[in-house]
Amino acid sequence: MKDVKQVSKAVIKRLPRYRRYIRDLKRKEVDRISSNELSNIMGYTASQIRQDLNNFGGFGQQGYGYNIESLDEELSNILGLTGKYTMIIMGAGNLGQAIANYTSQREHFNLVSMFDINPRLIGIKLNEIPVRDYDEAAEFIKKNNIDIGVICTGKRNAQQVAERLIEGGIKGIWNFAPIDLDLPEDILVENVHLSDSLHSLTYHISKKYDRE
Ligand code: NAI
Repeated sequence: MKDVKQVSKAVIKRLPRYRRYIRDLKRKEVDRISSNELSNIMGYTASQIRQDLNNFGGFGQQGYGYNIESLDEELSNILGLTGKYTMIIMGAGNLGQAIANYTSQREHFNLVSMFDINPRLIGIKLNEIPVRDYDEAAEFIKKNNIDIGVICTGKRNAQQVAERLIEGGIKGIWNFAPIDLDLPEDILVENVHLSDSLHSLTYHISKKYDRE
């Protein structure tokens, strides 16, 4: 394991957004940008931007700003988006298949298998991806040195699925099941809950408009 400099969670959460904007500027063939210009398009203050990017050595130059090409490269490095991550999906139902479609179009992820308990799914291929028996998951992870396990099973099975992933030596868990997993502290987990985001929206709508 690597010894990494501690950066606050809030900064890390902002980095993918920086990368998205910088990639967009790169597509538009922009060469460089100042923190003030970046502030105008992103909505963060210029000093926040300088502070955030200084966490990683600060690639900006006084009077020049940031070079888009090298900032893109640095942000990709920082986010670990260099090589490929091997990935498996636990639960080949509606969500599992949607995530499979999504990841198959992402450059840095290699989805190698899905796992399920449903005999009707085990043994078939979904969009070229084989669905294997859940009982083979731990062994498969060990053998193939899988990086990321995605949990797309129902809430009742998610804890047990997470434990199976850990048994196999998974490096990180991307959890879509709507529960807080009870796992050892050193396990890397990212929870995704579309409903949290949707409910923030309903909160704002209900504050802004009268609703029946
Ligand atoms: P689904 O019923 O279509 O698929 C679930 C699949 O998991 C089934 O094929 C089932 O056989 C399989 N499964 C059950 N136990 C398993 C185990 N131990 N190992 C491997 N596979 C197992 O359900 P759907 O619609 O795909 O939803 C899956 C989960 O995702 C649910 O918990 C749902 O609440 C959650 N969800 C989360 C969202 C989010 O934003 N986080 C959005 C949509 C769904």
